[in-house]
Amino acid sequence: MPRLTPDQLRSARWFAPDDQRSFGHRSRLKQMGFDTDDFKGKPTIGILNTWSEVNNCHTHFRDRAEEVKRGVWQAGGFPLEVPVMSLSESFMKPTSMVYRNLLALETEETIRCYPFDAVVLMGGCDKTVPALIMGATSADVPAIFLPSGPMLKGCWKGETLGSGTDMWKYWAEKQAGNFCDDSWAQLEDGIARSAGHCMTMGTASTMTAIAEALGLCLPGSTSIPAVHSTHARMASAVGRQVVEMAWENITPKSILTSEAFRNGIVTDMALGGSTNAIIHLIAMAGRAGVKLTLEDFDKVSQKLSVIANIRPCGEYVMEDFYDAGGILALLEQIRDHLDLDCKTVTGKTLGENLEGAEVIDDDVIRPLNRPVGKAGGTFVLKGNLAPDGAVIKPTAAEERLLQHRGPAAVFADYGDLKARIDDPALGLTPEHIIVLQHAGPIGAPGIPEWGMLPIPKYLLEQGVRDMLRISDARMSGTSYGACVLHVSPESAIGGPLALVKDGDLIEVDVENRKLHLNVSDEKLASRKAEWKPRETQFSRGYGKLYAEEITQAHEGCDFRFLHDDGSGMVEPKIY
Ligand code: FES
Repeated sequence: MPRLTPDQLRSARWFAPDDQRSFGHRSRLKQMGFDTDDFKGKPTIGILNTWSEVNNCHTHFRDRAEEVKRGVWQAGGFPLEVPVMSLSESFMKPTSMVYRNLLALETEETIRCYPFDAVVLMGGCDKTVPALIMGATSADVPAIFLPSGPMLKGCWKGETLGSGTDMWKYWAEKQAGNFCDDSWAQLEDGIARSAGHCMTMGTASTMTAIAEALGLCLPGSTSIPAVHSTHARMASAVGRQVVEMAWENITPKSILTSEAFRNGIVTDMALGGSTNAIIHLIAMAGRAGVKLTLEDFDKVSQKLSVIANIRPCGEYVMEDFYDAGGILALLEQIRDHLDLDCKTVTGKTLGENLEGAEVIDDDVIRPLNRPVGKAGGTFVLKGNLAPDGAVIKPTAAEERLLQHRGPAAVFADYGDLKARIDDPALGLTPEHIIVLQHAGPIGAPGIPEWGMLPIPKYLLEQGVRDMLRISDARMSGTSYGACVLHVSPESAIGGPLALVKDGDLIEVDVENRKLHLNVSDEKLASRKAEWKPRETQFSRGYGKLYAEEITQAHEGCDFRFLHDDGSGMVEPKIY
C-alpha cells in the first residue's frame, strides 16, 4: 500500500478544509497554545493513557506519555494525550473484568470521534491490555501498544517475592499457623516495590507478551521492567514508530490475522501463561473477525510445553526473564512453532524482528528439550459437567490431582463459601472436590478471579496445600493449584454445574481432557426441571447492558453487539 499523503490523513477532514467548521477546529488548537506549524499536514497521534491515581501499575504513565510525545514530535507528528478508563486490577470490584468491555467500547469510540491518524495504547494492568486492543481493533485506525512493563521483584529477608503467587503461598502458611503477624506485615511492605504490573506470569505479563507476539508492540518492549531507563527510551521509540504507522496506514486488522492469533496461542502455552489469556484472545480475535475455539488452545498445548521458568509455574520473576533475554529470546526458542511471516507494527515480519535474539540464561528461558513441566500451559477439559469446556493449568497443580475422583462439596456462591469453608462440621477431606456455583460471567457477575478456592483451615493445618476445585470463575494468573475454571455454560444460566449436589462423585482426568459428573442423565434432567434462575441483579445502567449482552467464557465474554460483523468503523460525519 502506498504511503499516505497529508491530504489523505484522517485528521485532514478536521483541519484541512477552508470552511467554518475547520476554522473552529484550528482555532481551538490555537486556544491550547499550538501553532499552525505544530499540526498542519502532520499525522495527529492520540495517546490513550490509562493512568490514574487508583491504578498502582500505571503510576509512571504520566512520564511515559511525555516520552511518547517527544518521539512523536521528533518524527514529525502532532501528539494529543487523552485519558481513558483505568482498569485497576487491585481496586475495582466486583472485578475489573466487568469493565473490560466498557474500556474497549470507550477506546473504540474515542478513536472514532477524534481526529486521530494513529494511536498509542498505554496499558499493562491485566484487563487494560485486551480492552485497549479490542477497541482499537474495532476502530481499525493504526495502533501500537505501549506496555507498562513489570514492576521490580519483591523482597523479604533476602527472599524474592512474586506478585500474588507469594501472597497466596504465605497466606496458606499463616492460616496453617506457620507464619507470624510480624512477618506477614513485612511481606506487605516488600511485595510491591515499584511502578509496573505484576511481575509473575500473571495476566499482565501474559497478555503484554502475547500482544508482542501478535505484532502489536515494538520488539522486546513488553519485557522491560517499568522503571528501567530503557523503558523511557522505548516510550519515545513508540512515539516515533506510531508516526510512521500513520503514514503507512498499518492498522490492527492488517496485523491480526488468524496466523497472528495462532502465534499468540503458541506464545501463551510456552509462557505457561494465565488462564485468563484464553478468554481475552478469543474476544480479541472476535474483534478482528477471526474465530478461535478452546480446541485451538488445546491443540497447541499438546505439542508445546512451558519453557518460561517464571512463577507461578516456575521459580523466577519477570525481571529475571528480561535479563535472560526477554520475550524475543523466548520467541526465538519456539520459532519453529511460529508463523514468522506475520506482519508487525514495525512494518517488518515477526521473523525479521527476532534477528539477533538470544537466550542469556537458559535456566530462566529453557530450551524446548528441557521444559519447566511435561505439560503445556493450559488444558481444555470437556464432559457432562462442562459441555462447552473448562480449563486447567496443570503445571500449577499438584500432580496427584491431575487424575482424581472424589465427592463434591458444593457452595452456592462465594458468600456461602466464605461463610462455611472453614467449618470443621463439613468434614471435608483432601479427596473432596470443592465446587463453587454462581461465579461466572452473569452469576457473579464478571467471572471474577475466585477460582483458586480456599482450602479449609483445618486441612491447611494438616499440611494439605492443594485440592481439586471446580468453578465457573476465573483465576488470577498469579494463582496456582488444581483449579478447574471457566466451566461453561455457567451455573447462573442453568449449566450442569448448577445441578451438582453435595456428595456427587466427580471425575477429573486431565491427560484425557475429561470432566465428568457421575450422575445419570435422567437424574440430571429431573434436577434441571426443578432448577430456577436467581433474580437478575441489575434493572438499569451498565449492569443491565452487561448482563444482557455478555457471552460465555468459551466465547470470550465480549458483548454480542461488539463482535466484528465485517462492516468496519463508521466515520463520523463532519458538517
Ligand atoms: Fe495490575 Fe496485577 S495489579 S497487573
